[in-house]
Amino acid sequence: MNWNEYAKCYDLLCDLSRIGRLSLPSDASILDLGGGTGNFLCHGLPAELHRANLSHLDFNEGMLGAAREKYKKEGLSVELLHADATRYELPPSSFDCILSVNSLYAMSNPVSVLQKVYSALRPGGLLFLVNLGRIQNTLDWTLYLVATNLIRLGPRRVIELLRNEGSTIAKANRRIACEQRHHRYWKHTTAEIGEQLTRIGFRVDELRPCYRGYSDLAICTKPGPSAQCLGLQSTQLLLSPLRSYSHPRSVYRD
Ligand SMILES: C[S@@+](CC[C@H](N)C(=O)[O-])C[C@H]1O[C@@H](n2cnc3c(N)ncnc32)[C@H](O)[C@@H]1O
Repeated sequence: MNWNEYAKCYDLLCDLSRIGRLSLPSDASILDLGGGTGNFLCHGLPAELHRANLSHLDFNEGMLGAAREKYKKEGLSVELLHADATRYELPPSSFDCILSVNSLYAMSNPVSVLQKVYSALRPGGLLFLVNLGRIQNTLDWTLYLVATNLIRLGPRRVIELLRNEGSTIAKANRRIACEQRHHRYWKHTTAEIGEQLTRIGFRVDELRPCYRGYSDLAICTKPGPSAQCLGLQSTQLLLSPLRSYSHPRSVYRD
């Protein structure tokens, strides 16, 4: 999978733009695992958590480069960790919240990464997980991209977009689908990922399909004495199917 190539147009893709109201202390330690171009710490976190202890781990330089720029522009102080999540030793009980959005599926041993995540969370800590579980239909995504952008960007820009970024995105999606078909990327149903999380020890607070049914969203807690202090105040989430390059905040509704 060529993540460097994907990084150049990744922000045109569908995205979860808001992580609801996380009830975390303002100095919480938050890690975005497989953070990509940095969308979630920039635009998904509620503003009161912008001064939290933020870390972002990714093994791809292209993705990290895009994230670095974005954090600088947004004035966020984020520790960037250039590392492979399957090998990196996350310090035990060190995070109040770990986010991972559509990254785990591409890791060689996702269950062992989830076990590391469990041990890296403090008791009561929160896992916010979105993971691609089903094989994506490239045509379905292309039609969706066209339909949602036609009015907003106009036909000329949409044709340009399909010719340029669209073909890179389609290529990346075909590659991902191929890896999924050959069982090199993790495939699962909503129930399967829920069972896996429970087996590891998480309490699954919310579980449902998202991203046009291709991914699953799981909000989980590591049981512990302070479990009631952290967690979600509200599970109100906006699963935005598409976000824009030029108006990244336009899809965030309160
Ligand atoms: C589809 S992108 C998602 C990025 C981001 N979470 C988002 O949704 O905007 C998947 C990310 O996972 C990263 N990734 C894949 N395998 C990884 C691994 N073993 N260790 C660290 N990062 C990994 C890729 O570099 C890429 O940035």
